[in-house]
Amino acid sequence: GDDKDLAPRPPVVTVMGHVDHGKTKLLDALRNANVVDKEAGGITQSIGAYQVATEVDGTERRITLIDTPGHEAFTAMRARGAQATDIVILVVAADDGVMPQTIEALNHAKAAGVPIVVAVNKVDKPGADPIKARGQLTEYGLQPEEYGGDTMFVDVSAKAGTGLNELLEAVVLTADASLDLRANPDQNAEGLVIEAHLDRGRGPVATILVHRGTLKVGDSIVAGPAFGRVRALLDEHGENIEEATPSRPALVLGLTAVPGAGDNFMVVADDRLARQIAEKREARERNALLAQRSG
Ligand code: GTP
Ligand code: NA
Ligand code: MG
Repeated sequence: GDDKDLAPRPPVVTVMGHVDHGKTKLLDALRNANVVDKEAGGITQSIGAYQVATEVDGTERRITLIDTPGHEAFTAMRARGAQATDIVILVVAADDGVMPQTIEALNHAKAAGVPIVVAVNKVDKPGADPIKARGQLTEYGLQPEEYGGDTMFVDVSAKAGTGLNELLEAVVLTADASLDLRANPDQNAEGLVIEAHLDRGRGPVATILVHRGTLKVGDSIVAGPAFGRVRALLDEHGENIEEATPSRPALVLGLTAVPGAGDNFMVVADDRLARQIAEKREARERNALLAQRSG
């Protein structure tokens, strides 16, 4: 599309870090702290991705947080060429400091060319040494902005709920400084499957993330080897929504099969075409599998 068709979209963020450094607790804290969720009564679906909002310079800014990927999922998505993540929040516990998986996560992000914001977590703990954590990460090439580098470090406590808005603000500022996050909302939607499963009552349920275009109820879609017509779109509160714009995560109902995490999805003209494409993909995958076995 033309440049003039592009509209700003929220950054998509993945939280990574060493075991037990507080990734899950931080995601929970961010979900509960943010203004979007406050009205909804606090009951969130396990959707694998959700949006939060924060105010930066008087403007509401949205951020999409991906809840699921550990390192494997992140790598798998990267291997498929899917640019799932715009920014990585690297969590490092201020009492433990830098650990092997901190470095692994750092290297994944670097290899993907994704900017990093460091959340120095657990600053409420007696043994916390956030200065030491900064020194350690500097040795691995992540120099804090406050020391003349270009990486934003934010002290947080997922437990006490401190530093959360500062962290979200750092994500927005990092995105504004180093990324051009725009997409055309006025085209057939394309994006990525974050996770999918078979629900007893609802059939195949996929959490998708829209990259380009706007996904609408009634659209015919192909998602990996699955296809179908979007019967319903749900947001992270389980509320029905009519459409999902770029960077918006949503639950999709109406697929005929369960796609895989990291599969791409796209909207096509009609159901017949969706079925044809899905069947071609399935045949291709089957052949590749057979070739692998006989080779
Ligand atoms: P894995 O998914 O197993 O890699 O762990 P994680 O990184 O998701 O860590 P998780 O959120 O499960 O937190 C690990 C432990 O640290 C839990 O007992 C949390 O309650 C605790 N924890 C997390 N954040 C904080 C914090 O800010 N302060 C304190 N004191 N404890 C925290
Ligand atoms: Na844990
Ligand atoms: Mg966890």
